[in-house]
Amino acid sequence: MERFWDPSAWRQRPAAQQPDWPDRRALDQVLQQLRAKPPLVFAGEARSLQSGLARVALGEAFLLQAGDCAESFKEFSAASILDRLKVILQMAAILTYGTGVPVVKVGRIAGQFAKPRSAETETINGVTLPSFRGHIVHDDEPTEAARIPDPRRMLEAYNQAAATLNLLRAFTKGGFADLHQVHAWNQEFLAATPGGQRYEQMALDIHRAIRFMEACGMKDVLALKETEFWTSHEALLLGFEEALTRQDTPTGEWFATSAHLLWLGDRTRQLDGAHLEFLAGIQNPLGVKVGPTATPDEVLAICDRLDPHQVPGRLLLIARMGASKVESLLPPLLAAVKRSGHPVAWACDPMHGNTFTNADGHKTRHFEDVVAEVGGFFQVCQREQVWPGGIHVELTGDNVTECLGGTDEITDAHLSLRYATTCDPRLNGRQSVDLAFRVVELLQH
Ligand code: PEP
Ligand code: CO
Repeated sequence: MERFWDPSAWRQRPAAQQPDWPDRRALDQVLQQLRAKPPLVFAGEARSLQSGLARVALGEAFLLQAGDCAESFKEFSAASILDRLKVILQMAAILTYGTGVPVVKVGRIAGQFAKPRSAETETINGVTLPSFRGHIVHDDEPTEAARIPDPRRMLEAYNQAAATLNLLRAFTKGGFADLHQVHAWNQEFLAATPGGQRYEQMALDIHRAIRFMEACGMKDVLALKETEFWTSHEALLLGFEEALTRQDTPTGEWFATSAHLLWLGDRTRQLDGAHLEFLAGIQNPLGVKVGPTATPDEVLAICDRLDPHQVPGRLLLIARMGASKVESLLPPLLAAVKRSGHPVAWACDPMHGNTFTNADGHKTRHFEDVVAEVGGFFQVCQREQVWPGGIHVELTGDNVTECLGGTDEITDAHLSLRYATTCDPRLNGRQSVDLAFRVVELLQH
């Protein structure tokens, strides 16, 4: 028999990584207001994404999940949304063209505001402060006052997510994602680079293919004119997620309406914890990050809990082991899940296991470590006969200098030039396009 569940069920369990809201009354008021807000996404959309992910689980499609580590209230503009969308569309075009399989596109966008932290405090310029937990909680300025959690920020996060999603829907359904536009997604700063030129060449080939299809009478193919683009974020702030969880009237099923897909971070996947309890009751497709400490038994217990009926597309496991560990730590997990029969989709997050702080104090990642982890992931998947379902990356369309290496050969000395992230270092537009080409090459080996 199914257990009774409602969106507040998590409150009976220990909830890791929640802000220490100083004003409980203000918090309750905000949650009340959020409960009255319209949903951002609908049950039917979440089900469509689940069908797409089912194809990933079955080895018929590839997942590209990408976007900011932490979306910013300050860097919020149409241009920044469009630039992120452009680079994701470019990567998806490269992956589709190079692999011949459909690419399911999921943004870390329109709600990716809350950050889990390994340490309660961080020291900036000699001052020790509460760690930054994302703009949905407080400001990133390095002062005590800025770091006080303010629940009203959850309303701002909702509004920014709504506006971002609105623009994404307009861009992806209103002509911008039309494959005839494949050239237009290449940004100026990219076009001059080897990766940008390689992209131009591919775009020409795609144009020829479309012209050929049209000449054969295949005009007005809707799949070429618009694309499906889904939103996702880490389900970290459970009060916020609870307030936006709604019952689907025809079926009585519960859906989180803050995004199409929610995932659990590596720090909040405890089996008896509040986060797993919350995710177990919603019907959206779910992701779970799986880091180096995860054991086969833990991963199987997560699968049983989140996907008891073994539905393809329900559960995405996102391995984030680090380039040096993926080949030793991932195979036992792949093998155990395969043996259990759980039809999960596997993806590789090659970012979070490869982060380090350099001598100047910049948190960074090396492009070649990112590529190496994806390569290691593909190899072990092949060995275990598991479909390497996709990649999960942190990127921005902008010309930032946050990750080392790439064709620009970004060095430690370059990092401070345009280091703009409020949390983890992101691949810039060039590194992202280059990564997509490298992924295609790795998959072909
Ligand atoms: C993240 O995706 O930004 C993150 C914090 O990841 P993880 O939970 O894998 O550390
Ligand atoms: Co991150």
